[in-house]
Amino acid sequence: MYVTSTWLFCLVYLIQHIYSVYCTSTNFTVNVTETGEYALQVNGVTWLQNAPTFFNENGTKYSTEDGSLNLTTQLTTYNGADRLGDFIAYKFQYTASSGQMMVTIKDYSPQPYVIFEQRYLTKTMKTRNSVCPPPKYPPVPYLGTCFNETISGFPSFLVQQPSKAKLGFLSLGGKMFGDFAKSTGRFSDSDVGVIADGMRSGPLAIFDEIGNTLLIAPFTKFMTTSLWYESGPSPRLSWGIMGGVNEVSADYTSSTIVIRGSGINKAFQTYGAILRKFYSTDIQRNSAIEKDSTIHYLGYWTDNGAFYYYNPEKNKTYEQTMLDVKQYSVEQNIPYRYLQLDSWWYYKSKNFEALKEWSARPEVFPHGLRNLTLATKWPIAAHNRYWSNETVYAKQNGGGYTFVKEYILSLPNDQAFWNDLLSNGTQWGLVLYEQDWLNIQTLFTGALQTDLNLGETWLTQMGNAAKTNGLSLQYCMALPRHALQSLTIPQVTQVRVSEDYLLDPLQWKIGISSIFAYALNVRPYKDTFWTTNNESVNPRYKGKTEPSPALQSVVSTLSTGPVGPGDKINMVNKTVLMRCCNDDGLILKPSKPATAIDKQIIKAALLMTDGPQGEVWSTFSTINGLPNATFGIVLVADLTGSYNLHPSDTGLSFQHARVVSYQSPLKWANFDSNNTLQLSGCTIVDFCLYYFSTPILLQSGKIVYILGEQSKWVPVSPQRITKIEVLSDTLHLHINGTSSETVTMNFIIDDKLKHVTCTVSNNNNLYIDAVKSLCSNTPPTNVAGRTSLYTNSFILLIFSITLLF
Ligand SMILES: *[C@@H]1O[C@H](CO)[C@@H](O)[C@H](O)[C@H]1NC(C)=O
Ligand SMILES: *[C@@H]1O[C@H](CO)[C@@H](O)[C@H](O)[C@H]1NC(C)=O
Ligand SMILES: *[C@@H]1O[C@H](CO)[C@@H](O)[C@H](O)[C@H]1NC(C)=O
Ligand SMILES: *[C@@H]1O[C@H](CO)[C@@H](O)[C@H](O)[C@H]1NC(C)=O
Ligand SMILES: *[C@@H]1O[C@H](CO)[C@@H](O)[C@H](O)[C@H]1NC(C)=O
Ligand SMILES: *[C@@H]1O[C@H](CO)[C@@H](O)[C@H](O)[C@H]1NC(C)=O
Ligand SMILES: *[C@@H]1O[C@H](CO)[C@@H](O)[C@H](O)[C@H]1NC(C)=O
Ligand SMILES: *[C@@H]1O[C@H](CO)[C@@H](O)[C@H](O)[C@H]1NC(C)=O
Ligand SMILES: *[C@@H]1O[C@H](CO)[C@@H](O)[C@H](O)[C@H]1NC(C)=O
Ligand SMILES: *[C@@H]1O[C@H](CO)[C@@H](O)[C@H](O)[C@H]1NC(C)=O
Ligand SMILES: *[C@@H]1O[C@H](CO)[C@@H](O)[C@H](O)[C@H]1NC(C)=O
Ligand SMILES: *[C@@H]1O[C@H](CO)[C@@H](O)[C@H](O)[C@H]1NC(C)=O
Repeated sequence: MYVTSTWLFCLVYLIQHIYSVYCTSTNFTVNVTETGEYALQVNGVTWLQNAPTFFNENGTKYSTEDGSLNLTTQLTTYNGADRLGDFIAYKFQYTASSGQMMVTIKDYSPQPYVIFEQRYLTKTMKTRNSVCPPPKYPPVPYLGTCFNETISGFPSFLVQQPSKAKLGFLSLGGKMFGDFAKSTGRFSDSDVGVIADGMRSGPLAIFDEIGNTLLIAPFTKFMTTSLWYESGPSPRLSWGIMGGVNEVSADYTSSTIVIRGSGINKAFQTYGAILRKFYSTDIQRNSAIEKDSTIHYLGYWTDNGAFYYYNPEKNKTYEQTMLDVKQYSVEQNIPYRYLQLDSWWYYKSKNFEALKEWSARPEVFPHGLRNLTLATKWPIAAHNRYWSNETVYAKQNGGGYTFVKEYILSLPNDQAFWNDLLSNGTQWGLVLYEQDWLNIQTLFTGALQTDLNLGETWLTQMGNAAKTNGLSLQYCMALPRHALQSLTIPQVTQVRVSEDYLLDPLQWKIGISSIFAYALNVRPYKDTFWTTNNESVNPRYKGKTEPSPALQSVVSTLSTGPVGPGDKINMVNKTVLMRCCNDDGLILKPSKPATAIDKQIIKAALLMTDGPQGEVWSTFSTINGLPNATFGIVLVADLTGSYNLHPSDTGLSFQHARVVSYQSPLKWANFDSNNTLQLSGCTIVDFCLYYFSTPILLQSGKIVYILGEQSKWVPVSPQRITKIEVLSDTLHLHINGTSSETVTMNFIIDDKLKHVTCTVSNNNNLYIDAVKSLCSNTPPTNVAGRTSLYTNSFILLIFSITLLF
């Protein structure tokens, strides 16, 4: 006997302010047997067949494979409901040595997700694998290689290619929000071995050639859940509690979710949307993002790759160097609005260079940080790293705060500590606390790998203190587990999503990790960059050059995260840099981070399929007043060969658009299913960048395409164009700028190019009439002819559909 349930998909996505309805007849089946076997089928083909369920106890693996894990209660089926909706549950109970566990599959059909839950019914001891040799590195005596296993496995799936479908995978893993150890390949044993598992593990997407996707990832207990890959005659992937845990309390419950999506990007967005809903992330997160000035304005960075990283000007202190940067920026009118201080300013322990005391060393800032902030008027984004066992703050070392002290590192476990640390920071201008080295802190701290609560407590205390002090947080070198935990920590507004600048010449490739960041509603940050080719006068970067400053600038801008150049004084190329921003340093962004299109990922995984071999990312802007118009952007770089881009590849739904390239902004072409876009010759230096715009039909019969402000990377951005009013015979653009700034907007009106150049008035207001090519400093009064394109009933309909989701 078996139970199945079939889903028919009809999803509504809320992507920023774009609403679209996707209905597919793809069908997804959860098939559960009475004895605890389960399978996931897509269109009648089994994609994922379960592997044996297991729980460790008494140092041993109890598994259904050899019958050592006893099925004590066969299938029980019941209906239930929770915050995610109605579900049908399939429940089983097992006994290991004496410990009892329950596993449940909750099928939320027709919603596109299934949750696999494991619950310990009794306190269970010695859950760690007793065969656990010490690791070679890190040299921490009480860690063991089994820490990268899991002590339980449910769900667990066999790694095998179905006979009737060709499956590929994308696995995120390792530091930098799962970017560093990400991998793609065929879903077969020969390829899956590259997946980063254990403490570094992250979400796994499995997809076919047309993008049908199953995304498997943790749903709760992010800091303690791992994925474990076991090779062997029947290779398998298991999700469960991290391998270092040696004792689990009764009632401990964790769960993994499988999301069905028609597309890899969409599956991640659905995953993120469900989690953000479940953890109520968005309201507080959006408000934290809104308040985080380092996301909205250009800043000056001094981290790894920046010219002044451990490299002040000759014979000068850092204090003087930073004052000189300020002076230069004033002379050159470069609107840096804050300053980032990297790891060169505080006290480190000799041992492992771990953090000893988070305050400014007098040889670095002789007059103190507050003095610098007052002089520059730049608020501070400040770096921090892992805590030393010698930190002055720990009670064990004579300090005032509770720390878990270990062999090399320690970890604060004290809300008061975080409150004081960050509150002290606000005294000298701190606005963003950058917690770096999250991976090393976790991989070198035994307690974080054996304790079921400490990891969450640590990050939560940091987040609470940030909230209390009105600060935002940047996570750097975050493993996927930290990334996911940020769902409950709304103060995390931005995250690093690739290796340090100059450590990897391809670190600008953030199109895939940005998918994950976008799903979690945090802003991805590319890291610092140079705006000129050669600044390697810094001995640290001897011989290194930047082949493509413009690519660095555009990638930073399209990320929607910070834009943080780190040039030497006199080395800023303003032409390259200021395409990011208005004259005041306000970053002009698209409405979502640019992300790699599905076809790029499918091609990387399944080499024989049709798709671009290289980076093809898409994004769009939505402007208030005109939610239906699409202002799309496609960035193409490091492309091998050529590819014909179809509108549907962009992930945006539109019928027809006009497209221009940034090198020839006035030469437009049609872009629709009959007029695809031939991508070729798009390298790192000569990258391709396309802008497309959908038609706006006026009552007068005129057709207007807004090309926007083509001197900027994002010609149509909600920061610049705050509103578009559609009148019967023209469009009014409400422009936000800085006093005396010149703004040129381009349009195609009835197939003719038009441009309007205006100067922003003292009150920072500007209104542009597209058809009449007029500038005005006061709001246009003639609104009589406004069309009723977007009636209240239309908006209401959209909102009622979204509520379903
Ligand atoms: C569900 O599993 C059973 C037992 O393995 C199998 O006989 C049946 O065909 C499966 N159902 C579907 C819809 O594949
Ligand atoms: C789902 O798949 C099953 C088996 O392949 C098929 O019988 C059924 O008609 C499909 N349902 C839909 C809605 O496509
Ligand atoms: C636990 O493991 C030890 C050593 O392997 C063994 O001697 C003992 O019988 C086991 N106890 C139980 C309850 O299985
Ligand atoms: C499993 O259950 C069976 C029957 O209930 C029992 O005979 C057997 O000893 C149990 N095995 C273990 C490992 O507990
Ligand atoms: C777990 O795996 C990571 C990545 O390979 C490694 O750095 C770490 O040392 C491993 N942990 C242990 C305790 O072996
Ligand atoms: C730095 O100081 C040394 C010794 O005082 C001096 O010889 C050198 O010229 C100075 N360099 C610069 C660039 O001022
Ligand atoms: C910084 O300190 C110096 C030396 O004490 C002092 O002259 C200067 O006025 C201070 N600057 C500010 C902005 O406080
Ligand atoms: C910190 O750890 C190092 C290496 O284990 C050790 O040599 C040192 O004594 C420790 N320091 C303190 C204050 O515990
Ligand atoms: C904060 O500042 C106070 C006053 O200078 C100091 O006593 C305390 O140790 C500091 N705490 C932290 C965590 O920085
Ligand atoms: C600045 O960048 C622009 C655009 O890439 C380039 O044309 C110009 O030569 C650069 N200026 C300098 C001084 O390098
Ligand atoms: C593509 O061409 C066909 C045939 O000329 C036409 O019917 C269709 O409307 C065109 N599609 C678009 C999006 O323009
Ligand atoms: C909005 O877009 C949809 C789909 O592209 C289209 O069907 C609808 O007519 C548009 N509405 C308006 C008011 O333009």
